[in-house]
Amino acid sequence: MPVAKQAEIMPAEGKLGVLLVGLGAVSTTFIAGVEAIKKGVAEPIGSLTQMGTVRLGKRTDNRVPLIKDFLPLAQLKDLVFGAWDIFPDSAYDAALNAGVLEKELLAQLREPLRKIKPMKAVFDQTYVKRLSGTNVKTGKNKFELAQQLIDEIAGWKRKNKCSRLVMIWAASTEIFLKTHAVHKTIDSFEQAMRDNHKAIAPSMIYAYAALKSGIPFANGAPNLTVDIPALMSLADKNKLAICGKDFKTGQTLMKTIIAPGLKSRMLGLHGWYSTNILGNRDGEVLDDPDSFKTKEESKLSVLEYILQPEVYPTLYKDFSHVVRINYYPPRGDNKEGWDNIDIFGWLGYPMQIKIDFLCRDSILAAPIVLDLALFLDLAQRAGMKGVQEWLSFYFKSPQTAPGLYPEHDIFIQLMKLKNTLRHLRGEDLITHLGLEYYD
Ligand SMILES: NC(=O)c1ccc[n+]([C@@H]2O[C@H](COP(=O)([O-])OP(=O)(O)OC[C@H]3O[C@@H](n4cnc5c(N)ncnc54)[C@H](O)[C@@H]3O)[C@@H](O)[C@H]2O)c1
Repeated sequence: MPVAKQAEIMPAEGKLGVLLVGLGAVSTTFIAGVEAIKKGVAEPIGSLTQMGTVRLGKRTDNRVPLIKDFLPLAQLKDLVFGAWDIFPDSAYDAALNAGVLEKELLAQLREPLRKIKPMKAVFDQTYVKRLSGTNVKTGKNKFELAQQLIDEIAGWKRKNKCSRLVMIWAASTEIFLKTHAVHKTIDSFEQAMRDNHKAIAPSMIYAYAALKSGIPFANGAPNLTVDIPALMSLADKNKLAICGKDFKTGQTLMKTIIAPGLKSRMLGLHGWYSTNILGNRDGEVLDDPDSFKTKEESKLSVLEYILQPEVYPTLYKDFSHVVRINYYPPRGDNKEGWDNIDIFGWLGYPMQIKIDFLCRDSILAAPIVLDLALFLDLAQRAGMKGVQEWLSFYFKSPQTAPGLYPEHDIFIQLMKLKNTLRHLRGEDLITHLGLEYYD
């Protein structure tokens, strides 16, 4: 993460390869979206890098450039996409199958999407019980599979004439794993890969291959993946940016918008009950209790950190927080999330808030993938290494330095992100103190 004020940022020359692990609903919606935007048939709604601005200097200075004009981000025309999946379908067929985007729109994008054929995956059903596929690598052990990925990445980069790469995990949620002794050092991790140790999940093999290949890595699912000491040291050692975990979309996005507001007005919370119906493949995978456990942990921690019951026991001690996800095929990717929030106000009088969010998961996730690809590439060119906490804005369960609690409040996260951009460009940070206007 450390970076000097007004850091030297290498220019975004040449093509940027975006390597996606998993070519499912999120990845195909992202790729198709970028192609549609390039074609001029859609706008990059939801993407901070494309639509967001950053205020510089005083409110009276009138300096509010677009983020993409303020910093040398890669341009959409320079993005090239690659992917791995356990199913051999092209991005076009996978997008049709995911059913997020309309057939008419996909038909216009057929040519570029058909060209993207997934490479064979590193996959083991032990870690995603509800899936089985044929497009899978074989190898003597996990270390050898990692070497296959490393060779494949180098070949892909050459073939696609890319000057830089980033890798993003947008594959299924793996079963819940705790940090294990073998995750401690790079040596113990490599030995465990040779021993086919069960503490090494496929997502860790991809992350290892990325970091060995000099590629920054983001984790869009709640799996441990790159959030283990061995891979954090590898990122540091190879001066690579990493971030995760779990794209912040849907219900958790709403939670991190509403909870800071309730807390700001010192309103108490008795309980927050969240339930979802979801019918896509992600929902099917999360129907397995071991994969759901990984997701549940990621979703549950949010309120505790925002509301700080230990600091405000009268308002937030012992509130009840329940999260449910039910697999319900008719809904496809169009999830429905209900929240019942039991709050209390002045003199302890109870009130309720009900939210019914008819959301489209992948529509919310796709711009996050774009922003992460562009910001990770920027971080890399600015010499930022290790955990990129300023990208917490995009995650349900932000990865932080060891011993540091994560910041979940979306408004603080956004301020941190924009201040990081100002810092990179040597501009004054904005504190919102504003005394100078009244001198
Ligand atoms: N959509 C959202 O809003 C959202 C939000 C947060 C997190 N996520 C996470 O992002 C991930 C992708 O979501 P999705 O809706 O695209 O799911 P999806 O099921 O449509 O796609 C995931 C793809 O990953 C593939 N896959 C599984 N294991 C793999 C492996 N080891 N290597 C390569 N490919 C593998 C599957 O075959 C599938 O095609 C999930 O883990 C999900 O929990 C999604």
